[in-house]
Amino acid sequence: MEEKDLKQLVAAMSLEEKALQLTQFPVYEWEGHASAVVTGMSNYGNISCDDLWKSGTTLNAPDGETVLSVRRRRREKGIDDPFLVMFDVIHGYRTIYPVPVAMACSFHTELIEDCACLAATEAKYDGVDLTFSPMVDLVRDARWGRVMESGGEDPYWSGEVGKAMIRGYHRGGIACCVKHFAGYGAAEAGREYNTTDISERNLREYYLPTYRACLEEDPEMFMSSFNLLNGKPILGHKEIVVDLLRKEWGFDGVLISDYGAVDEMRNHGYCATGKECARVAIESGLDIEMASPDYVRYLPELIREGTISEEKVDECVLRVLKLKNKLGMYEAPERYTDLKKRDEVTLSEEARVLVRRAAEESCVLLKNNGALPLKEEENIALIGPFADSKEIIGTWQAMGRCEESVSVKEGVEHLLGREVPCAGGCSGMLFSGDESAIEDAVKLASRADHIIACVGEHMSNSGEAHARADIRITKVQRKLIERLYTLRKKLTLVVFGGRPLVLSDVEKYADAILYVWQPGTEGGNAIANLLYGKAVPCGKTVMSFPRSTGQCPVYYNCFATGRPRKNDLPTMLGGDSWTTGYDDECNSPLYPFGHGLSYAKFEYEELRLSRETLARGGKLTARVKVKNVGSVDGTEIVQWYLHDEFASVVRPLKELKGYERIFLKAGEEKEISFTITEETLKYYTDSGEYAAETGAFEVFVGGNSRDCLKAGFQLVDGE
Ligand code: BGC
Repeated sequence: MEEKDLKQLVAAMSLEEKALQLTQFPVYEWEGHASAVVTGMSNYGNISCDDLWKSGTTLNAPDGETVLSVRRRRREKGIDDPFLVMFDVIHGYRTIYPVPVAMACSFHTELIEDCACLAATEAKYDGVDLTFSPMVDLVRDARWGRVMESGGEDPYWSGEVGKAMIRGYHRGGIACCVKHFAGYGAAEAGREYNTTDISERNLREYYLPTYRACLEEDPEMFMSSFNLLNGKPILGHKEIVVDLLRKEWGFDGVLISDYGAVDEMRNHGYCATGKECARVAIESGLDIEMASPDYVRYLPELIREGTISEEKVDECVLRVLKLKNKLGMYEAPERYTDLKKRDEVTLSEEARVLVRRAAEESCVLLKNNGALPLKEEENIALIGPFADSKEIIGTWQAMGRCEESVSVKEGVEHLLGREVPCAGGCSGMLFSGDESAIEDAVKLASRADHIIACVGEHMSNSGEAHARADIRITKVQRKLIERLYTLRKKLTLVVFGGRPLVLSDVEKYADAILYVWQPGTEGGNAIANLLYGKAVPCGKTVMSFPRSTGQCPVYYNCFATGRPRKNDLPTMLGGDSWTTGYDDECNSPLYPFGHGLSYAKFEYEELRLSRETLARGGKLTARVKVKNVGSVDGTEIVQWYLHDEFASVVRPLKELKGYERIFLKAGEEKEISFTITEETLKYYTDSGEYAAETGAFEVFVGGNSRDCLKAGFQLVDGE
């Protein structure tokens, strides 16, 4: 349709119809679906179910059958407006791949894109038109439950991950929504839905670039976040939503609120009434109100009494209709909804192969003193609450079913073609402290030569509304690990988690640690392949692993202080006093950003710069030799970091500026290069300009953010 036709559709709508076009409720609110969690509309005062049939969009329709039936019934009621269905397809639809933070550890944008495409393909035939993904909130605090949905702590990489996901969704045939704009990941103390207070500089340099990068891939929608930002709820932040997102960045797609967030402005203490919430939200540029009733109840009244202009509301409605038009819904209102095709593509062998590879490439080998890979003839025992658990697919699993996933036991037995002794020992849930099964598990383990302990965090303990104040492995699991250690066998930990857990209490007992996050439907097969060397680990962590919860937030791209501590020891253990640090803890994380081992062994040598000075407008090439000195072929993620040594505003100690994924056969060596231009060195200077300042810079290259080769150059004005 032409824009003028869409405008005519808007003009023909009543005020009530316009408000409904901008109101989104889960379909079960009025459809009365059997799986309804919330029933009826009584919670929402004077809106009738009959009215809600005219909403322009919905979320969380349970399946394609419901989508088709709701669309048919709308037509029977004479509503011919296309009905747009949205859903949280976060890391797979029915075939589930690892949680996003794990996918990000693969440093493999094509793989991330292929997985998002698979998710979109399964989802679109089941009636989904748009996914509420990617989430590109920058995260630094592992206490926050939603780090599992993120691309990690680095703004550049997190943006690249978001972009790859968008490309995949589009290729697979669904639209998408970048969320949660803005700064939600900075929730104070990692506490869910908590306040954020982020300076303009911090926002511009760290928190905003991820969302902005996503705009390069043309996402259809943005979702505003729940949090207060510097004293105002985002939905009241014209500066962020209108001035920045709309005007400065030029985003002209649809802006949707998060679930219930419009009306929550009352709880924030920002609006006294629902009517006030509606006024503030519409004036701050919000198009669709999700799951609260203020638009539908008050927009018509606000227009009639002249508080807000009808044109403003028309603009919002037009944006929604334009989205439907972009998706072809005026010509094909069902879009791809097709139950037969859905059944053909769902959970196919091809899909399983892809998500298995995704899991293999996202696991991070944190430690290995030679215990891994296992030999097939080794006499092992699988111990721990996740040894034979299918609850390993992670939350936000869309239509994924735990029973369709592969446990570690199943994966290992399938690989070996024989049964393997296995015992849970204890529960993996928080607050399940029953120790009574530990001794039986230890007894079983005592007959093995190598114990594979599958421990960590249950999938239900991370995700939205699952912040944790103590992110250690639970006490009962720690006890299990200690007991296993007393057997003096080889001990490998396979650790599950939606966040980087604190492993300090247990890592000393382990010969090897494979961090598998929440690995998805094919988790067990992927883990078995990694344990036995059929796949070689290559993931690199995108979040620093804290040594203790009290270190949070801990992240690599931080600043130097005036009193840096030289030896990184706690003061009580000899750390130089009156310097930055703790009495009882180191400053460094247990495992730094970018860390991840392989069965191959990579050495970096001869970092050389093509020149010692870089003139503005010129270019400089950094080169390094990377050699696989091990006996196994493997993939390495070569990481390039920069540091501006002195500047008008202090710069982070290191910033990731580029990476290269290389495959090296055993014994093979490659020269890798990285080009630096003035553009690479830009940042928001003290005068607010995005520019590079002359002076000294350091270039680092390595296989993680800590252990790097270093060289220096100067940016100069002349030749
Ligand atoms: C979450 C969003 C999600 C929405 C719809 C909210 O609670 O914060 O990320 O997209 O629900 O399910």
